[in-house]
Amino acid sequence: MNETSEKYRGLKKEIDPPKGKLGVLLPGMGAVSSTLIAGVFLVNAGRGKPVGSVTQMSRIRLGKRNENKTPLIQDFVPLAGMKDLVFGGWDIYEDHCHQAALNCGVIDKESLGFVQKELEAVRPWSAVFDPAFVKNLSGKNVKQGKSRMELAELLMRDMEAFKKEHGLERLVMCWCGSTEIYTENMDHPAFQTLEAFEAALKDDLTIIPPSMIYAYAALRMGVPFANGSPNLCVDAPALVELANKNRVPIAGKDFKTGQTLMKTIIAPGLKARMLGLTGWFSSNILGNRDGEVLDDPGSFRSKEVTKGSVLESILQGDLYPDLYGDYYHKIRIEYYPPRGDAKEGWDNIDIRGWLDQPMQLKINFLCRDSILAAPVVLDLVLFLDLAQRAGMGGIQEWLSFYFKSPMCRPDLTPVNDLFDQDNKLRNTLRIIMGEEVIDHSGLDYYEDA
Ligand SMILES: NC(=O)c1ccc[n+]([C@@H]2O[C@H](COP(=O)([O-])OP(=O)(O)OC[C@H]3O[C@@H](n4cnc5c(N)ncnc54)[C@H](O)[C@@H]3O)[C@@H](O)[C@H]2O)c1
Repeated sequence: MNETSEKYRGLKKEIDPPKGKLGVLLPGMGAVSSTLIAGVFLVNAGRGKPVGSVTQMSRIRLGKRNENKTPLIQDFVPLAGMKDLVFGGWDIYEDHCHQAALNCGVIDKESLGFVQKELEAVRPWSAVFDPAFVKNLSGKNVKQGKSRMELAELLMRDMEAFKKEHGLERLVMCWCGSTEIYTENMDHPAFQTLEAFEAALKDDLTIIPPSMIYAYAALRMGVPFANGSPNLCVDAPALVELANKNRVPIAGKDFKTGQTLMKTIIAPGLKARMLGLTGWFSSNILGNRDGEVLDDPGSFRSKEVTKGSVLESILQGDLYPDLYGDYYHKIRIEYYPPRGDAKEGWDNIDIRGWLDQPMQLKINFLCRDSILAAPVVLDLVLFLDLAQRAGMGGIQEWLSFYFKSPMCRPDLTPVNDLFDQDNKLRNTLRIIMGEEVIDHSGLDYYEDA
């Protein structure tokens, strides 16, 4: 073991084997969820490949470069298999998963036909919903309860029944529901401690958003929780307290997919070469239901906040005022129905080189939102289940790789650089399996020369 690895020796984990079936709970059965579920069924039927999934396709280097040890991640760490996943979820609309997949039009009808029966069997349970938090949607498949605590208990009952019905060993929840309006009052006392939060649930305090009620229900049941939206579901100190208390892994927030993925690939490169930034204008058109929800200024504000923070932490304007102290960053999302899920993003980046000479970079990304998001959900589910079996509770910063606005300890700055995030994830896997940490200096190859 080298010195860096020695430091981490105590962090090796005893990991319970992934036996039995894993239940995947998805609040929100729209484009992302249906694309994930249909994709898993199609891959399991041998009709597609899980492209974009690190857990399924990526290899990890172990030891020295000349040892040529690069197993698949899924052979290196004990992950649940794709065939062991059973899906369940909630939505305000009653459409089963086949209909939901047809509605959003991400995967073609013919392919969906191969797994139609399995998809039809996935029917959403009634949702916990409050139209005050998502203005542009209304559906009838909604639970009624006297208080938010009672609604949380109904969600727990759904989970228990699902576990029993399918003989599941474990559960993981990933929020794939709509973006709620931006919560201005996160410093309200109800969000600060678990005790105050539970009292507020019982009092049906209306500032508690539905996504937080799902998160609370999951954590109470010891179910790991990932937040794929900009909502603040597990960001409140009260929910972090519950996750720590019950030793349940949590991660968030907002899946890093299209434009922000590109941003966190390009910006670290510009920064590494000390090229200055004058302005970054990002605009998008998208026409799916997510786009419709984001057409409401309250929901857009939530998105703007998670999308907006990435450049700051990568470029560190406070440390490099000449290069990044005063750039203009603007983000626009326009709802344009003809495009459906086939989003198009334009980035105009004004940069500066030697002697502050101006240059420009243009990116036109014709992406497929849910095609990029589905493998992210799959990986999060499998990694959170791994973390749970390894006894790792609370915030899982090593999963920052998958998020626009990664959760981390409040006194730390989040890491947004995709390559730093990739190293963080891989070294975490090496550490928990008792393998050597790789520092990429390469100096040790030349020591005897
Ligand atoms: N598609 C992507 O690439 C991507 C990337 C980053 C983040 N996200 C986020 O992921 C989430 C899902 O995206 P999508 O494209 O699938 O959206 P979508 O609109 O197709 O699906 C969301 C579903 O959630 C349901 N819903 C809303 N509130 C609910 C509640 N309280 N309980 C249960 N269901 C509820 C809606 O009825 C809808 O069917 C959004 O918050 C989005 O911002 C998506």
